[in-house]
Amino acid sequence: MERLYKELEKYSRNGDYPFHMPGHKRNPLTVDADFPFERDITEIDGFDNLHHPQGIILDAQKEAAQLYGSRECFLSVNGSTAALLSAVSASVKRGGQILMARNCHKAVYHAVYLRDLKPTYIYPHIVDEFGINGGITPSRVKRALEENPDIEVVLVTSPTYDGVVSDIAGIARVTAEHNIPLIVDEAHGAHFRFSDYFPGSAVDLGADLVVQSFHKTLPSMTQTAVLHRCSDRVSGESLQRFMGIYQSSSPSYILMASMDACMDKMKRDGREMFQEFTKNLGEIRERLEKCSCIRLAASDMIGHAGIFDYDRSKLLFFTDRSSLNGRMLHEILSSEFHLQMEMDSLNYVTAIASVGDTGEGLMRLCEAIEEIDRRESLKIREEKKKDIPEKFSPYIPMKQISGIADAMEAPMKRCPLEESIGRVSAEFVYLYPPGIPILVPGEQITGQFVKNMRLYMDQGLDLQGLSDYTNKTICIVGE
Ligand SMILES: Cc1ncc(COP(=O)(O)O)c(C=O)c1O
Repeated sequence: MERLYKELEKYSRNGDYPFHMPGHKRNPLTVDADFPFERDITEIDGFDNLHHPQGIILDAQKEAAQLYGSRECFLSVNGSTAALLSAVSASVKRGGQILMARNCHKAVYHAVYLRDLKPTYIYPHIVDEFGINGGITPSRVKRALEENPDIEVVLVTSPTYDGVVSDIAGIARVTAEHNIPLIVDEAHGAHFRFSDYFPGSAVDLGADLVVQSFHKTLPSMTQTAVLHRCSDRVSGESLQRFMGIYQSSSPSYILMASMDACMDKMKRDGREMFQEFTKNLGEIRERLEKCSCIRLAASDMIGHAGIFDYDRSKLLFFTDRSSLNGRMLHEILSSEFHLQMEMDSLNYVTAIASVGDTGEGLMRLCEAIEEIDRRESLKIREEKKKDIPEKFSPYIPMKQISGIADAMEAPMKRCPLEESIGRVSAEFVYLYPPGIPILVPGEQITGQFVKNMRLYMDQGLDLQGLSDYTNKTICIVGE
């Protein structure tokens, strides 16, 4: 079979002169920087078209479907974002009803906004010990569907950014009983398929549509993702149409070829690569679980707070038994040990491990955490700083007063954050990462929410969404 990434490589060397886009003309001397211009082409002969795939791109999509065991697969050069927008848009009619976990990524909220959907939220359980979101259980989905018989689609995130996996097979049985599609945002779980060390993929567990970011956990370029269709509950034509709407009409061949190369590699060497990776990961996890001041979230969360399984490639280090907070630990790891973390929150930092990690890299993280843990254990108890409330969770239930689109498009006015209590928000607020809204347009602003905002600002966390970047004012729905 001709492979996209190999053909692109061949083409970059064949000497054809480009009288076509892009404007760099594959000439590296057009800028003073090193970009892979020689492989950056447009839809020329032999290279198919993502929005009307019939040749080499269709083959790559078929290959992805085969690799994951889905019926059909669509490549996305606009991340899981475009895949989620398309999955939702194709599954529910404009203005229809969606049942979604409240801890969904902002892309899902944007789909709700664009299609003017009516969301019903399920708030995940909270893991008391750590204050992170737990799972969504089949019984809660069942109850919500019985109470709202007009819901047309269900969407949950599994694994979450923290690695929490819900009982997807159980939820899929419930949605199948109602004959409605289940979309699983598996953006952080594209690696599940390649090792039993990780939870099962939603593709194998009865989900109808599954979205995966290749770039998050596999060796693939940023922005690359796939949308799997696993049943006939949602039409392939409709998915193709929406993928065409939400993606560029000039999709990057470098990104598409990167997905193709990733799949080829996984097919040929994935088993050995993942064996090596999970062996190294297992070894460091075993050591890190012995640390007592900097605690690693571990699989013993399974069975609590709706957690069905746990993705052990997410390394969450909790600081609540030390003198540090998440930001401080992040800074020590970065400035002293030259280790760049994925993110920090109030009381933890997250490191993401993947098959791209070297044994040496993982060991550096392990030794750094052990060293910080040693230092912390020598500090006297009184020194332990407690400026963060115990069992803190940023995801407090909010009262939904109006729809997202209604709130965003109503007359609005700006008001100081402190004076906004009781008013209806016209804006989103996220902690970034992970980009899960802590406030959604149409929700009523509470005193607790404003208090939490102060805490995040004091702790230097990255708050996004408000048009006022200082976060001092917020747009509320006007009179
Ligand atoms: C759970 C989840 N879903 C979807 C996305 C969007 O993915 P992408 O960045 O590939 O568009 C993210 C991004 O962080 C995410 O965390």
